[in-house]
Amino acid sequence: MEKGKESLGLTESSDSGLGLVMFDALLAHFAGHEHAPDLDPSLIKAMRHEFESSEFFGQDMRHLWMMLESVVTKSMCYPGINEDRINLLNLACGYCEEGAVLPAFWGRTGKKVHQFSIDLRDAEIDKAKRRYALTEKIFRKAGLPNVSELSKSSQSVEFIADDAIHLAEYGQIPSQFNVIFIRHQNLWHDRSTWQRIYDFALNRLTDEGLLIITSYFDREHHLALDLIKMLGGNVLVSERNHLSRELSYPGKSIDRHVAAISKNK
Ligand SMILES: C[S@@+](CC[C@H](N)C(=O)[O-])C[C@H]1O[C@@H](n2cnc3c(N)ncnc32)[C@H](O)[C@@H]1O
Repeated sequence: MEKGKESLGLTESSDSGLGLVMFDALLAHFAGHEHAPDLDPSLIKAMRHEFESSEFFGQDMRHLWMMLESVVTKSMCYPGINEDRINLLNLACGYCEEGAVLPAFWGRTGKKVHQFSIDLRDAEIDKAKRRYALTEKIFRKAGLPNVSELSKSSQSVEFIADDAIHLAEYGQIPSQFNVIFIRHQNLWHDRSTWQRIYDFALNRLTDEGLLIITSYFDREHHLALDLIKMLGGNVLVSERNHLSRELSYPGKSIDRHVAAISKNK
């Protein structure tokens, strides 16, 4: 059994069990939680089956979910524990494969999640919007209400094409976030830009908030942690993700390292 799964008490065979947990959380997310109508159980069963066999929410997303469970538990930090709403920011989100999974994860205990995802590249944000809409469509097949038409106070998902730092100029965006996620941070590519992004992220975290970063390769991860510490971040957990999928480039893999960081109070 892989080490990451062991630490969560999950066995190889429970990977599909996890898929169902993720399915239920996505269903609740797209149903707007308390707005969930009585759904036809046979339809839900068929959808679960379809979900299980679909490539759309493949192994990377299940492993992302397990990685988050693991790192959040080990951090002993529970963002938004005393609030009924989580403000979630996905910085430099790219095409945002995790656009529906993240709000489902943070909303799994019934909290309302307001998610903002931002990337510099318009084309990536267009893809992210399309992917999220497609996911929503899959779940709407079960007869769920149109969540985007529900009250904005319930939950929201927004994708923004801009420089992360410009978020400060968007009046309607929260000034503080309970969770900030940066998947495959890119410090190696441009240190000064990423210094600005980390500084921005640490300044935007609530006192109990969590910044979670992942990295493709070892050296980039360690350099990022050094920089984040220098900027005042408190690294609560950093681990090599044993569920990480190897890429063709030697030493690189999907979510190879993950770290959970709080700001020094
Ligand atoms: C390595 S990619 C990771 C993308 C995505 N998070 C993923 O895991 O696939 C780094 C991303 O950072 C984005 N980026 C770089 N500088 C940025 C900035 N100043 N503001 C917002 N996004 C930025 C790039 O457009 C790119 O999509």
